[in-house]
Amino acid sequence: MDRIAITGGAPLNGTIPIYGAKNSALKLQAAGLLSAEPVILENMPDLADTRFMTQLLASLGVEITWIKETRTLRMHAAEIASTIAPYDQVRKMRASFNVLGPLLARVGHATVSLPGGCAIGARPVDLHLKAFEAMGADIVIEQGYVKAAALRGLKGAEIEFPFVSVGATEHTMLAAVLAKGDTVLKNAAREPEIADLADCLNAMGAKVEGAGTSEINITGVTSLHGAKHPVVADRIEAGTYALAAAAAGGNVLLQGARFEHLQALIKVLRAAGVQVDAEARGLRIQRNGGRVQPVDFETEPYPGFPTDLQAQAMALLCFADGQSRIRETIFENRFMHAPELARLGAQIAVQGNEAVVTGVPKLLGAPVMATDLRASVSLVIAGLAAEGETIVNRVYHLDRGFERLEAKLAACGAQIERQKEEQ
Ligand code: EPZ
Repeated sequence: MDRIAITGGAPLNGTIPIYGAKNSALKLQAAGLLSAEPVILENMPDLADTRFMTQLLASLGVEITWIKETRTLRMHAAEIASTIAPYDQVRKMRASFNVLGPLLARVGHATVSLPGGCAIGARPVDLHLKAFEAMGADIVIEQGYVKAAALRGLKGAEIEFPFVSVGATEHTMLAAVLAKGDTVLKNAAREPEIADLADCLNAMGAKVEGAGTSEINITGVTSLHGAKHPVVADRIEAGTYALAAAAAGGNVLLQGARFEHLQALIKVLRAAGVQVDAEARGLRIQRNGGRVQPVDFETEPYPGFPTDLQAQAMALLCFADGQSRIRETIFENRFMHAPELARLGAQIAVQGNEAVVTGVPKLLGAPVMATDLRASVSLVIAGLAAEGETIVNRVYHLDRGFERLEAKLAACGAQIERQKEEQ
């Protein structure tokens, strides 16, 4: 298994290109199942997770071509050959579960493994299943599988989510576009990835209005046609590099990053004393000398501070001149990076869903590992700003969501390299 070795202390200077968003791409890939015509995704990230989704779609009968040079994925689901997503595929990547809605809407039935919990929390899918039931699907859970059927088609419904869920909002949209009649989603998630999915579905001939607000209205259509759609820039990738530049110091342009999608993070960065400017080509992050200031924040659904940047922001605040409080309100177990950051000398006290970070003037490199994607990259950020060598193990977590991470950072002056296990 590969690992990443970092010698900390070098500031970051240069330009980092931001690719398409993983968490949008995966749902856009699932949307490819909805049409018998080709759906073409541009600005696709090339990640372990998106490759994995590609394999799953291929096993369902989708013809797929990946054109690396242009970062274009062409999906053609002329016919659906299988409606089963087995345990081994859903267990390895939860987003695989998102094929259920499109299969149900297009073919009228599907058998998809329940995803189960993961390192950051229990992550049930009850809201997804209740929404499909409200649209007339019969759902049975048997031997770890969701067996869903709507043999005479799904019907539009009014669905009010009891709390905000990105996955349930997207998954319901993916089914409702082909349902008979109107669907109204209340208390819908407002993430940019939801508006991106709606844009793609509308380009395919769907009628989705209000995506990006808490009420989404969908008028079902009988079929969808092919379309070409560029994946929205990854705000979590951009935010991660912004926090890396803030921690290591320097001057970095995040090319393609969308200022308007990163407002909550920008507020925290500015409060910490980091300079953030919107430019025509993206977002510029600058910090020269001195310690960052402590900041309190809590994670919330968009437009609040994203849970997917909490670990990375914690890594920055480990160096602050004072005490910061961080509350995690989305997932119940998302502080696993805290004990690993402590291995570098960070002072973090976790109690329940709150972490108190007492900043220290410096961290010292050490071997570390983490159990999820964002936690792993927070250790890279800490390593970039720490003194000496940090080795981040279990790099496969990073490869799920960050493409060419070490190359992008090295191009800005970081001393970072990937090492093969045998070294
Ligand atoms: C998406 O997960 C993202 N994943 C996550 O990114 C992200 O952290 C999360 O949204 C929040 O922004 C993908 O897009 C693939 P939720 P999702 O449904 O959709 C509970 C990363 O690192 N819930 O908004 O699963 C749930 O347990 C990943 O890239 C239910 O109880 O998140 C959580 O506590 C990690 N029942 C809360 O809601 C349900 O049916 C919000 O989860 C659904 C969710």
